[in-house]
Amino acid sequence: MSQTRRDVLRMGASLGFGALVPGTLLAATSAPISLVASVAKVQLAPPDYPKTEIWGFDEQMPGTEIRVKQGDRIVRRFVNELPQASSVHWHGLRIDNAMDGVSGLTQDAVPPGEAFDYEFAATDAGTYWYHAHNRSMEQVARGLYGALIVEETEPVDVDREEVLILDDWLLNPETAQLDPEFEAPHDRSHAGRRGNYIATNGSAETKLPVKANERLRLRLINAANARIFLLGLSGFDGWVMAYDGMPLEVPEKVEGDFLLAPGQRVDLFVDVTAEVGEVAHLVRFDDETGASQAAFPVEATESSTPRRTSPVSLPANPNMSVPGTQSAKRFELKMEGGAMGSLRSATLDGEKTSFRKMVAANQFWSFNGVVGMTDAPLAELSSGETARVKIHNDTVFPHAMHLHGMHFREILENDEMGPLRDTILVFGDETREIAFVANNPGKWLFHCHMLAHAASGMATWINVT
Ligand code: C2O
Ligand code: CU
Repeated sequence: MSQTRRDVLRMGASLGFGALVPGTLLAATSAPISLVASVAKVQLAPPDYPKTEIWGFDEQMPGTEIRVKQGDRIVRRFVNELPQASSVHWHGLRIDNAMDGVSGLTQDAVPPGEAFDYEFAATDAGTYWYHAHNRSMEQVARGLYGALIVEETEPVDVDREEVLILDDWLLNPETAQLDPEFEAPHDRSHAGRRGNYIATNGSAETKLPVKANERLRLRLINAANARIFLLGLSGFDGWVMAYDGMPLEVPEKVEGDFLLAPGQRVDLFVDVTAEVGEVAHLVRFDDETGASQAAFPVEATESSTPRRTSPVSLPANPNMSVPGTQSAKRFELKMEGGAMGSLRSATLDGEKTSFRKMVAANQFWSFNGVVGMTDAPLAELSSGETARVKIHNDTVFPHAMHLHGMHFREILENDEMGPLRDTILVFGDETREIAFVANNPGKWLFHCHMLAHAASGMATWINVT
């Protein structure tokens, strides 16, 4: 599907060089940077434990950070050295459908030993991430992900920034090796695979020294299979600047705690209010108690920087308005199934199947009565149309619904609109409605980012032509 270098050269020859756009010329003359997926060993657990065998990008945990400026092209040759077929999805980026990396929908999975060339423009500034998108339940849990950062064209007024990727790993407490049971029926039918070792950037002891009064940009990414993080700040004054990559029109002061569901990101600006010798924290609330998700010891006084005033918003990304919600095409998505749910039967592989038989097939969830990827899309849209999707969660579990290729806004009471997002957390028994403009042609996956749920029923797609 992707053009190889040879194709590009051939095209150049037949069109004559005058027809080549600069980006094409660049791709033809410089070798693409590789992104290699392979088995690797990393020190995940504390140093008195053995290394953990993971599957990673470029043998790293997290995988190599990809960082470009808004408008740049991202060109990567994905090289698969894994024992399984795979592909790479660029979560949250509005790109050409052929580059979206969804095995079985936008491309064939890349077999072991083979490669695939990805190339697309980073039109939107913000915090994104990339991850494997074949057998995601297993491949993401094994560590196949990394941050994808698109910087604003103008510098942002912070002293520095940190990318924090949150994950939880299910490790054997003696050997520190990953639990290899990726199809556990209990995980699939309940809240998903949750880990017992909670880490930031692959370590439970992330320490980032800071200076008094400094302003940091924290880019938080939830890469966990299923864990919803409940977070807070201590020793910082903070503002939410962006959700899922997209800037808020008005930064929101962080008061109390906030949620980060699987797949979601949040950009914070935080001012260090803790004093020299104290430690500021990104706090994680497990049940009632707070734990440190990342520690920021205050090591020096920043002499030249007095505390700043409240931040101004980040520049908006292009073409993000969602007009015409009143006359929009309307769709409904009913989520059913799971443990303690009321689903009696659903369509599995084209046949009406009792819940008992679904369980035997290790499938537990349905969208509009269908289990697993539907043949027909949830919505057929023509390019430029506005659509509304009402999501009913008729299960007792929360689900983090992720739409590929386009950001949406939630329709709130009084027809107010929520912030732009690509992943919405819908709790049990809730009904929420989203709206988006179908301005990106192609087949876009719409699924639960609790990856065990996606693997056992919760996936559909939207067709834009
Ligand atoms: Cu983050 Cu379909 O994926
Ligand atoms: Cu789910």
